[in-house]
Amino acid sequence: MAYSEKVIDHYENPRNVGSFDKNDPNVATGMVGAPACGDVMKLQLKINDGVIEDAKFKTYGCGSAIASSSLVTEWIKGKTLEEAAEIKNTAIAEELALPPVKIHCSILAEDAIKAAISDYKSKQEK
Ligand code: FES
Ligand code: FES
Repeated sequence: MAYSEKVIDHYENPRNVGSFDKNDPNVATGMVGAPACGDVMKLQLKINDGVIEDAKFKTYGCGSAIASSSLVTEWIKGKTLEEAAEIKNTAIAEELALPPVKIHCSILAEDAIKAAISDYKSKQEK
């Protein structure tokens, strides 16, 4: 399958790979899996005063999933949680020019953001 140049760029030079301590109260962790292919994505956000200061990811999956998560870590920095929750998989798919069979890879990235935000909210309630 032919990957777009942007996918290849993110795949070859992924931004913000790594992880934060998930027990840090300011760290939100979103871990999601794609039932269609078994790929797994972990997105972590470092949050201060409702603003995402930093983001890291680890993705075990295809090039499009890696590119989607890499892109999202770039987009999300400096955003509030509310703004981050607005990021749509369609915007990711469009930016990366994903073909239809790879749309679920971008959905994985959107789901990872949502999972991280809900992890953060449940941490705050404790
Ligand atoms: Fe997801 Fe290829 S199907 S890695
Ligand atoms: Fe499944 Fe990309 S093929 S996440």
